[in-house]
Amino acid sequence: MAPPVGGQRSQTARICVVQIYGTGEEMQIPVTVSTRTLVVKELISQKTGVHIDDMKVMAKGGPFMKELRNTDEVRSQVVIKGIDSFRRKRQQYPHPHAIIGAGHNGLRQALVFAEHKDTNFILFDRHDRIGGTSWLDHANVWSKVQTELGTYHLNYSDQCECPQDMAPWPSRDDLLAHFNKVCDEWGLKPYFKMSSDVQRYEILNEGQANQCYRLYLRASTDGKEEWETTVSSLVMYPGNLTIPRREEYKGEDTFGGPISYGMFDETNYGALQGKNVAIVGFGAFAVENIRTCCEHRSGKIYLVCRRKNLCMPRMVSWWINGSIFPIASSDVLREMEDVYKMVGDDPWSYYAVHSNEARTNVTIFQKARFGIGDIYFLSRYYGKTEVVLGTIKKVSEATLHLEDGKRLENVQAVLKLFGFVPDWAVDKFLQLKHLTGLWVNGDFRIGTMSEFPTVNAQRFGGTSLSPGAVSWCNIFYYFWSYPKDFEKMIATGMLAKHFPNMQKDEPGYVLDAQMGSQVLISISGLCPGLVEVIAKYDDRFKREKQCPGTASCF
Ligand SMILES: Cc1cc2nc3c(=O)[nH]c(=O)nc-3n(C[C@H](O)[C@H](O)[C@H](O)COP(=O)(O)OP(=O)(O)OC[C@H]3O[C@@H](n4cnc5c(N)ncnc54)[C@H](O)[C@@H]3O)c2cc1C
Ligand SMILES: NC(=O)c1ccc[n+]([C@@H]2O[C@H](COP(=O)([O-])OP(=O)(O)OC[C@H]3O[C@@H](n4cnc5c(N)ncnc54)[C@H](OP(=O)(O)O)[C@@H]3O)[C@@H](O)[C@H]2O)c1
Repeated sequence: MAPPVGGQRSQTARICVVQIYGTGEEMQIPVTVSTRTLVVKELISQKTGVHIDDMKVMAKGGPFMKELRNTDEVRSQVVIKGIDSFRRKRQQYPHPHAIIGAGHNGLRQALVFAEHKDTNFILFDRHDRIGGTSWLDHANVWSKVQTELGTYHLNYSDQCECPQDMAPWPSRDDLLAHFNKVCDEWGLKPYFKMSSDVQRYEILNEGQANQCYRLYLRASTDGKEEWETTVSSLVMYPGNLTIPRREEYKGEDTFGGPISYGMFDETNYGALQGKNVAIVGFGAFAVENIRTCCEHRSGKIYLVCRRKNLCMPRMVSWWINGSIFPIASSDVLREMEDVYKMVGDDPWSYYAVHSNEARTNVTIFQKARFGIGDIYFLSRYYGKTEVVLGTIKKVSEATLHLEDGKRLENVQAVLKLFGFVPDWAVDKFLQLKHLTGLWVNGDFRIGTMSEFPTVNAQRFGGTSLSPGAVSWCNIFYYFWSYPKDFEKMIATGMLAKHFPNMQKDEPGYVLDAQMGSQVLISISGLCPGLVEVIAKYDDRFKREKQCPGTASCF
């Protein structure tokens, strides 16, 4: 056989010790006898982000040090010039990074800064307290977190423990107290500017290395005070669908009992004791309202809905959040079969389930996110709650008239839970033409993220927000630190673009579950450096948070 071009090269393994010139820092790199200097430079360039042309590799040549050429075999002991450290240099910014939103997500982003011992940030929210629209405005005092504490808390990261002093399903007020406690413990509040409505921004030095943004703010207390500030980047966590959907029925004035929204503390549940109640809508809020009505000893509950959405018993949610790998939708449905059977239902027959005949290849695609809770099933089992399929046409005294001619009589209260619609003001504020991945108009300095509002999955890795939040907050932080990696990722052209769609009432800032998960998968696949950061928050980590001490059993 002909010898390889350039001659036979030794593949015998050895170690190359690389020392940084002028420092004691050194690194051992496994190489072979024939490894060239260029290969070592490339490895160090990948790790540090310093270009190979800016490095010099020196080795002893007689009494002096001499520079090795890229084609030279690398020596086993070399000194490198042109880098200060093997740790990658983070991009420094002259102005703070702005976080907009002090809900769960914005607060988690602030914690990511704190975890990196970085105080170059400022958080704005138009509320006068932290907690976000979800927990300050939408939730009722009777609301509870529906997913389990292990995977829903602000301390969800490798640097903190799950709170020990809270119930597994904390109430709204306990959760808000937890948010405050964590922010106090981490000393974050001096970096928060509350009652500050960020109205618009302007790009300064566009296209230059020192591009930054002027924010225009107005005090949300009196609306009079206005001011400006300059920031190096901004990330907005506005919540996903935040404007309550409203509809008034014909004849409401003749109904004779309370008709209210079962949200934002609008309903006096104490007044429902002994009364028959119609809950309209079948999202998580409706499921929660069944529990609240039961807790307040209401009479019969009619759950009036256009179609039945799947909701989830607590143990199934617990199982998914404690799993070491994502659970197939077919297994999720199988686990739900028994409890559905108890209430005379079959989960496989729901509109949200798309399955092959063998029920091996299953997708659950549902507009409403799962309501999670057992009281829904128990109250149906005991006959207290009845699901009524239909749409309300009008109401008259103590009566609901449905489109199909059916009537529900002797109803003394109506609770509306129609969900929410997106806020186009967010797209307008962001000047969003498209969202490339999670970045507005492809600019790595401006990001936005909100929970995906639909369910669309063949597998479920979790039912709770915090595991996702820790990843996306670290993703934004990573690309501010290493913008060159962002350029490389964008240059692949593989990051999906999401455009606003007025006809479908879909602004650009909200991604649905399918596109959102594709985007997150692509980002980590396209940036090897980022994988190192977010891989630590994998399913094993999630299991350890949910069921401490068990991740190592696998
Ligand atoms: C009752 C209820 C129960 C829930 N239970 C669960 C659960 O059990 N598990 C789960 O995973 N999820 C649950 N959720 C979903 C919940 O929405 C998320 O978990 C989370 O709280 C969303 O936080 P966020 O930071 O994205 O947004 P939000 O809470 O909506 O906060 C957005 C913030 O941005 C601020 N803001 C927006 N624009 C501006 C601007 N221009 N200037 C200044 N400030 C601005 C707003 O003032 C607001 O404070 C629940 C939601 C509700 C309502
Ligand atoms: N404690 C908790 O865990 C909790 C409590 C509340 C909310 N949340 C979260 O808050 C978010 C919103 O939940 P949500 O339940 O308010 O909204 P949702 O999931 O969007 O559900 C809205 C429901 O209202 C129905 N609906 C919409 N318009 C209607 C109309 N005009 N007439 C009759 N029915 C109508 C929808 O029907 P269709 O299905 O036919 O569209 C759907 O059943 C979710 O992310 C949820 O997870 C959590």
